[in-house]
Amino acid sequence: MTDTLTILGLESSCDDTAAAVVRHTPGQPAEILSSVVVGQTDLHADFGGVVPEIAARAHAEKIDGCVEAALTNASLTLLEMDGIAVTAGPGLIGGVISGVMCAKGLCAGSGLPLIGVNHLAGHALTPRLTDGVQFPYLMLLVSGGHCQFLIAHDVDEFTRLGGTIDDAPGEAFDKTAKLLGLPQPGGPAVEVEALSGNPKRFPLPRPLLDRPDCDMSFSGLKTALLRTRDAVVAEDGGLRRQDRADLCASFQSAVSDVLVAKTRRALRLYLEQNPARPTLAVAGGVAANQKLRAGLETVCAEQSAAFIAPPLALCTDNAAMIAWAGMERFRQGHRDDFTLSARPRWPLDRKSPSMLGSGKKGAKA
Ligand code: KG4
Ligand code: ZN
Repeated sequence: MTDTLTILGLESSCDDTAAAVVRHTPGQPAEILSSVVVGQTDLHADFGGVVPEIAARAHAEKIDGCVEAALTNASLTLLEMDGIAVTAGPGLIGGVISGVMCAKGLCAGSGLPLIGVNHLAGHALTPRLTDGVQFPYLMLLVSGGHCQFLIAHDVDEFTRLGGTIDDAPGEAFDKTAKLLGLPQPGGPAVEVEALSGNPKRFPLPRPLLDRPDCDMSFSGLKTALLRTRDAVVAEDGGLRRQDRADLCASFQSAVSDVLVAKTRRALRLYLEQNPARPTLAVAGGVAANQKLRAGLETVCAEQSAAFIAPPLALCTDNAAMIAWAGMERFRQGHRDDFTLSARPRWPLDRKSPSMLGSGKKGAKA
């Protein structure tokens, strides 16, 4: 028996339907043989956020095609897989059910083993897929639905050092874009506007920086931005281009300052316990933000830690990370049966209480 494993991964927990094939031989870099992601931005564009029912239907319609395309692009058949990994939560429940049902059907038909994967573990284990990072390491997950610091000790063992107590930063970027009449997804649009803006013009709050922990809050920032916008409109009779650019730059600076300051704390805490493994990795769409990245690189340089940022396509939602996380669990002997259920909430750190929020995409843990 060879140690080489080939796993098909399925992802459908938010607004991307995805399938991927990943192959790995111990001691060698992992290979992503295919990775197909079908987004739903257009379907939700009129609603200013992801509509769960629309998302679930789209996942149910698209997932078979994604699986077929992933196998075709990898030039492999289903029976050449060693197992099927699927996101079993956390996320929007209708979408998660679509993926889990599809994976169960494929396993029932093929006899392949089924492996349920936590979506957050998919993100958190990505630095091992892309860069072969060894445990332990510190992880910052920062996207439209997640925002937390995790110490990754092992495939199934994480400690949460802190995270958002309300909105995720990507959600705040998206709402800011909406308030300023910019297109969705908001993060990239706000970042482009901010390039020509003055980040010091509007002094927006930096919530929870006075607290010594690693928790964050972004919902107040969004409200502050709304009030500031209304004040500018009331004073000038409208929002000029420069006003909009200055609002974007001020907002981006506030988010980045909070994330950078809290990362500095989280990294210090992590290094106190793990001085031999000085590594910070990031994942999530917001990690694409150049100002934030530059700030995180500075924090790592200050504390002599390596900064690992996987390619953007593997930072945002994808199925290669699910195939990889499934493979890691599979190697540890984990198998699921057909009682595997879809879970809307599933904190990675079982000891720390989950932080609830009212996220656009649903705060996921
Ligand atoms: O990880 P992701 O693709 O999906 C999940 O939320 O799971 O992240 C998408 C989020 C969106 O909210 C988007 O506005 C944000 O990431 N984003 C950015 C940037 N690119 C994407 N936020 C700030 N700056 C960016 N350049
Ligand atoms: Zn995600």
